[in-house]
Amino acid sequence: QLPKKVTVIEVGPRDGLQNEKAFVPTEVKKQFIQKLQASGLNEMELTSFVSPKWVPQMSDAAEIVADCLDPNARHIVLAPNRRGVDRVLDTNCQAVAVFVGVSDSFNKKNINKTTSESMEELKPIIAELKEKGYFVRACISTSFYCPYEGKIAEEDTLSLCREFVEAGVDELSVADTIGMAAPHESFSLFSKLKEAFPNTLLTAHFHDTRNMALTNIYAALQAGVDRFDTSAGGLGGCPFAPGASGNASTEDVIFMLHRMGIETGVDLDKLLEAIEVVKPYLTRTIDSSYYRLHAEK
Ligand code: HMG
Ligand code: MG
Repeated sequence: QLPKKVTVIEVGPRDGLQNEKAFVPTEVKKQFIQKLQASGLNEMELTSFVSPKWVPQMSDAAEIVADCLDPNARHIVLAPNRRGVDRVLDTNCQAVAVFVGVSDSFNKKNINKTTSESMEELKPIIAELKEKGYFVRACISTSFYCPYEGKIAEEDTLSLCREFVEAGVDELSVADTIGMAAPHESFSLFSKLKEAFPNTLLTAHFHDTRNMALTNIYAALQAGVDRFDTSAGGLGGCPFAPGASGNASTEDVIFMLHRMGIETGVDLDKLLEAIEVVKPYLTRTIDSSYYRLHAEK
């Protein structure tokens, strides 16, 4: 029994842009976000409060939040540590995503801490954010494969997710960071997550490195998942995960869902307008199928 309605969480302004080498002007990012919002994408990762030395592209996070927050939408920002969360607390943003990798080697490269060191720091922070009324999302990287350690055991991903659920998060966003998962693995892990955490929002985050994101999404739909992170234009990738190319593209995912009779509330023509805003500033091309077939040249 597939869902009748699916929520698509747009991660383009964050995951999509963080890997772009050339700085995208802040004004362009703002217009990109506004157009994405206008297309009906009501849940969105706007930016991340990470070290500007590590990810210069996100150095304008505070300005983006100041100008783009929409009280009628769920606008989420990422923060990896105490310093990041303190910077978020200085803004009006009400939704925070923390992020940790299942594998220590990846977490070290990404956050300069082991997974358990990150969890030790984050647990009291999550409690504090919940007490203050924030929406808290946990992004779980390397849930299937790690670029350094290879295959990750399902039990390890489930147990990190359990720690987050016990810490009080509202949402788990479970990621195939380097696009290695195959559909049978997507179905298996998401079935187990659905069963283990029935009261937590469960979202699937697939990178499309090996062209398997859409089939993995279909497999996750069959496992009962009705929330997916996607990126307009299929942009994206983590700078600290070699081989992590773009996310599943929002337009291809929406197109598939609409073809299946599943509602998303997103207008594809307006979504293309959002892509046009940012396209001239990108160092990569937009190669999603929907864009290729429908964008005006
Ligand atoms: P570090 O160098 O170990 O930091 O980096 P530190 O705690 O030693 O501090 C060093 C300096 O950085 C200090 O400043 C801190 O104040 C400052 P100084 O005293 O030298 O002037 N600092 C900060 N400044 C601004 N914002 C902060 C912050 N923290 C410390 N939050 C750190 C540790 C976590 C900061 C660094 O490793 C980092 O920024 N990592 C972020 C990496 C990143 O953005 N990765 C991509 C996002 S995750 C992702 O894409 C995966 C996902 O999509 C799911 C999937 O696909 O897998 C979510
Ligand atoms: Mg990602």
